[in-house]
Amino acid sequence: MHAYRTRPDVTVLNDYIEVPGIGFLPVNAFVIHATQPVVVDTGLGLPDRDFVASLAEVIDPADVRWIWLTHPDRDHTGGLFALLAAAPRARLVTTFAAAGIMSAERTLPLNRLYLLNPGQSLDAGDRQLTGFRPPLFDNPATVGVLDTSSGVCFSSDCFGAPLPAFALATAEDATAVSPGELRAAQLLWASVDSPWVHTVDPVKYAASFGPLRDFAPSAVLSTHLPPAAGDAASLLATLLDAPGADPFTGPDQAALEAMLRTFEPA
Ligand SMILES: [Fe+2]
Ligand SMILES: [Fe+2]
Repeated sequence: MHAYRTRPDVTVLNDYIEVPGIGFLPVNAFVIHATQPVVVDTGLGLPDRDFVASLAEVIDPADVRWIWLTHPDRDHTGGLFALLAAAPRARLVTTFAAAGIMSAERTLPLNRLYLLNPGQSLDAGDRQLTGFRPPLFDNPATVGVLDTSSGVCFSSDCFGAPLPAFALATAEDATAVSPGELRAAQLLWASVDSPWVHTVDPVKYAASFGPLRDFAPSAVLSTHLPPAAGDAASLLATLLDAPGADPFTGPDQAALEAMLRTFEPA
């Protein structure tokens, strides 16, 4: 995991995971250096990752006041319980549905919860953070963040892109990816992560971009894309084409066995 400032008040905690046949998927968590510091998502849960130790290189975990869980998928919850222990003043911003899903694995302390629905806002001291439903998502509990102070949008899984090289998944700016490669990778991800997009009413789907278009973010910070500054219009235009993109079908057992044979010694 490597950390860098992408804006004066936002740190990216960047990780990645290699998905066979798909690419290198960035896995980002973020720190919003508000008066009341906010951590957005908590990274992968792999045994060799220590999210709190990585976070400690950026901010004293004890100073964290809010942990905003955009949704309870395992690439977002890795350091959650360790951070709740290391940040005793922090409350977990999430939805009723997310808390319910998490409770199937481990009970969340109810007195640490702060339930927030799309359209509602959190006061982080020097800014209001407003929840919104991204146009694409893979979990019904998903709520992204609009930072009304910096104009930055934290889009959760939306706008993600599995990239062809490690160096791109760890890049500090989405412009490292060529426009053609970025478009193809975002459409692939849309099909992989939100397969329902191929069944939507195109008019209603286009209308779902309204809150984001109206907000006109100064930067899009996705969990699964290097930071994209000043390019929201083209990112939105790409995702508008997702319903007509090629649906994704994963490798089947024959493909797995063919792949395993390539691993066997000669
Ligand atoms: Fe997800
Ligand atoms: Fe994700």
